[in-house]
Amino acid sequence: MKQIISISLGSSSDDYEFECEFLDQQFRVKRIGTDGDVDKASNLLQEWDYKADAFGLGSVKFPYTTDSKSMLKKVTDQVYKVEGYIDKVKRLGSKNTSPVTTGNRLRNVAFEWAIRHIQFKLGQYFTNSRVFFVSGMYNYRIARVLSEFTENLTFADPVLENGVPKFLGSMKDLDLYSTGVHAVLKWVPSKRFASSAMVLRDWNQYILRKAMQRASIIVVPYYNFFQYLENCGVEELGGKTVITTTAYDDRIAFLKDRGVDVVIDTTPKILERVVGVNVLEAMIIAALNKPQDELTDDDILEIISNYKMDPRIVYPSGEPRRVNRFAFVIHPLSQEDFKKEKSVAMLTKLPGAANLIERVMAYSPPFIYSTITGVKSPTGVETEGWLISVGGTPKQMLAHSPEFTYKRLLQAAKMAKRLGAQIMGLGAFTKVVGDAGLTVSKKADIPITTGNSYSASGALWAAADAVRRMGLIEVQRGQKIKAKTMVVGATGAIGSVCCRLLALAFEEVYMVGRNMAKLLALKESILQETPDVQINLSTRPEPYLEDMDVIVTTTSGAGKKILDITHVKPGCVITDVARPLDIPAKDVAKRPDVLVIESGEIELPGNPEMKNIGLPPKVVYACLAETIVLALEGRFEIFTVGRDIEWQKVKEIYKMGLKHDMRLAAISGVNGVYSDEDIARVRELAIEARKKMQTSDDTMNAEENVSEPDEATA
Ligand SMILES: NC(=O)c1ccc[n+]([C@@H]2O[C@H](COP(=O)([O-])OP(=O)(O)OC[C@H]3O[C@@H](n4cnc5c(N)ncnc54)[C@H](OP(=O)(O)O)[C@@H]3O)[C@@H](O)[C@H]2O)c1
Repeated sequence: MKQIISISLGSSSDDYEFECEFLDQQFRVKRIGTDGDVDKASNLLQEWDYKADAFGLGSVKFPYTTDSKSMLKKVTDQVYKVEGYIDKVKRLGSKNTSPVTTGNRLRNVAFEWAIRHIQFKLGQYFTNSRVFFVSGMYNYRIARVLSEFTENLTFADPVLENGVPKFLGSMKDLDLYSTGVHAVLKWVPSKRFASSAMVLRDWNQYILRKAMQRASIIVVPYYNFFQYLENCGVEELGGKTVITTTAYDDRIAFLKDRGVDVVIDTTPKILERVVGVNVLEAMIIAALNKPQDELTDDDILEIISNYKMDPRIVYPSGEPRRVNRFAFVIHPLSQEDFKKEKSVAMLTKLPGAANLIERVMAYSPPFIYSTITGVKSPTGVETEGWLISVGGTPKQMLAHSPEFTYKRLLQAAKMAKRLGAQIMGLGAFTKVVGDAGLTVSKKADIPITTGNSYSASGALWAAADAVRRMGLIEVQRGQKIKAKTMVVGATGAIGSVCCRLLALAFEEVYMVGRNMAKLLALKESILQETPDVQINLSTRPEPYLEDMDVIVTTTSGAGKKILDITHVKPGCVITDVARPLDIPAKDVAKRPDVLVIESGEIELPGNPEMKNIGLPPKVVYACLAETIVLALEGRFEIFTVGRDIEWQKVKEIYKMGLKHDMRLAAISGVNGVYSDEDIARVRELAIEARKKMQTSDDTMNAEENVSEPDEATA
C-alpha cells in the first residue's frame, strides 16, 4: 500500500486519514494540518520522510496560477509579508528524498480544464456572465480562461490587498496591477492605513458587497475562504454560482446557508472524498513511480482524460439550478405612455408640451425600465432579464432615419452586455424601422433576435384558438381548411411568414400590401413551397373583406386607418398583430359580430415579476417571449433578424416554447380578455347577421327572378 502524507499549513480541524484505490493501486492518505506553523511542517516532512511515497504540501500561500514573476514578488513582498516564504517551502521539500509537491502542475491543467469543461457541458454557462474575483491574482488562470467567454470581470485585489476603493475591470488591468504599474497603485493608502481608517474600511466593505450583488458568479480562493466571505449574506451570495477549490463540507454548508445555487469545485473529482490538489498530484506521482522532475503535463493530461476527472458541481439545495439572462428593448407606443410615467406626467399637462416631450424623449439614452425575475421552465432552468427602454415613439422613429434608432439600440446592447445579458430582443417598432435587426445584429456584441418568429407563431396560435371557439369554420384533421384568409401588411417581416403558414393550412390566401412587386415575389416563393394553395394579391383589402373568414393585420401603419371594418364578413376573426393597433377600439365597437383579437400574447412559466407593460400578470408580447424562450434554452445566437423569416423557425420556437411551458394567454381584445360568453355573443350576432344577409340576398335574387320575365316581355 502506498502512503501519501499531506502536510498542510491550513487548519488541523480538517485533518483526515483514509484508504482508497487509484490507478489500480491501494493508497493510504493522511492529512496533517499545522495551523500555519511552518517549522512544524518542516519537522513533519523530516519525520515522515522514507515512510511516505509522496508528500503533498497544502495551503501554501502563493499565487500559483500566475505567469508573472513580478506578481509573485509583489504578493510575497508587499501583500502577504511572507518574504522568502516560497523559497523556504522549496527548501523544506528539497531536504526530503520522497517527492514533495504543492500540486502546481495538476492545478494548472485541472482548473483551466474545469472551466472549459463546464462551459461546454452546461452549454455556454459562462457566456457574458458577470464574474467577481475576490482575488484575481490567486485565481489568475481561471480569470484568463473565463476572459475568453466574458468581458464582465471584476477583480477586488486593490480593495482587499491594498485598501484602495477601486476594482480592476479587465485582464489588462489585472496584468498591469500584477506587474505593479497599474495607476491604482500610485494613490494607494497603505493597507495598514486603510484598515485603521474606519470610514475607508466601511466604504470598501460597502463597495465589495455591492459588486458581489451585481455578479452572477463569484470566484473565491481556497485560502482565507471564510475570511473573504465572512461579511456576505444572502444578498451577496443568494442565487449565485461560486467557483472555488477543494470545497470541504463545511464550506458547502456555509454557502448553502447563504443561498448559493451552484458550487463549482475546480479540483478534479477523483476520489469520493474531497482532498486538496496537492494530495491528488502526490498520488499521481506515487502511482506512476516516476522521478518527480520527469512528470510532464502530458502525464497529467492523460490521467485526467482517461479517468474522466470532471470538476465537481454541487447544488447546495439538492436541485440543479441554472439562471440565464436576457435583455429586451421596449419603447413608448404613443404620447399616452408619457402620461403614465411619473417623472414627465406633470409636464405633459402643459399646453402644447406633449409634442415637445415626445420629440425630446426620442433623444434620451436607453434606461432600465424594469427587471424581470422568476421565470422558471419545468426543465429547471430559470431566466431573468432587463427591459431596456429607448425613448422614441413609433412616430418619432419613423420621423428619423433608421440610423437614429440603430444608434440607440446599439447603446442598449452595450448596456445589456454590461448587465450580463446573454441575448437581446428588439421590441415592437425597434425592428420595424430599417432592416429589421440585421444591422444591429451585425454591430452588437451580444446576439440579437427580433422575436418575430414567435410573434407570427403567437398570432396564428391565437387565431386558431379563436376560430375553434367561434366554431363557424369547419376544420378537418389532415385537410386544408375550406375558408378564405387575408393578411394585411403581407410583405412585412411578420406578415410574410404568416402568409407562408396560412398557405399551408387554408385553401385560399389573400395577400394585401402596398408594393405590388414585393407581393408578386412573395407569391412566387410561397407557391414553390406550397403549390396547392390559391393566392390572390391586392393593394387594398376592401374589395375582398366581405368574403374573409380570418384576417391578420400586421402593418407598421402606426395608427393609420388600415381597413374598413364595416365591410368585414360577420363572424370573421381578425388578429391585430400591429402595435400601435391597426384597428382602433372605436372601429371594433362598430362590429360586435366580428371577433377582433390582439395577436397572441404568451403566458410565462413560473412566477414572473416585472413592472406593468400593459398586459395581465405573467403575460408578455410574443416577441419578448421569444427572447425568453431562447434564454431558457441557452440558445445565445442570432435567431430571427431581417424580413425573410423562415417558417421552420416559427415552428421551432413554437416547439421550444411548449417545452418550457409557454402558453397562449387568454385571447383578448381592446376591452380585455374574451370570456366564453363574450365569444358566444359574437357568434350569435354573426349567425343572425349572416341569416339577415342571406334573407336579403334571397329577396334580391327572387326580385331579380321576378323581374326577368318582365324584362323579357319588355
Ligand atoms: N404583437 C406583437 O407581439 C408584435 C411583435 C412584433 C411586432 N409587432 C408589430 O407588428 C407590426 C409589423 O411588424 P413587422 O416587423 O412585420 O414590420 P415590417 O416588416 O416593417 O412590416 C410592416 C408592413 O406594414 C406595411 N405598411 C406600413 N404602413 C402601412 C399602411 N399605412 N398601410 C398598409 N400597409 C402598411 C408595410 O408595407 P410596405 O412594404 O409597403 O412598406 C410592411 O409590409 C408592427 O406594427 C409591429 O409593431 C407586434
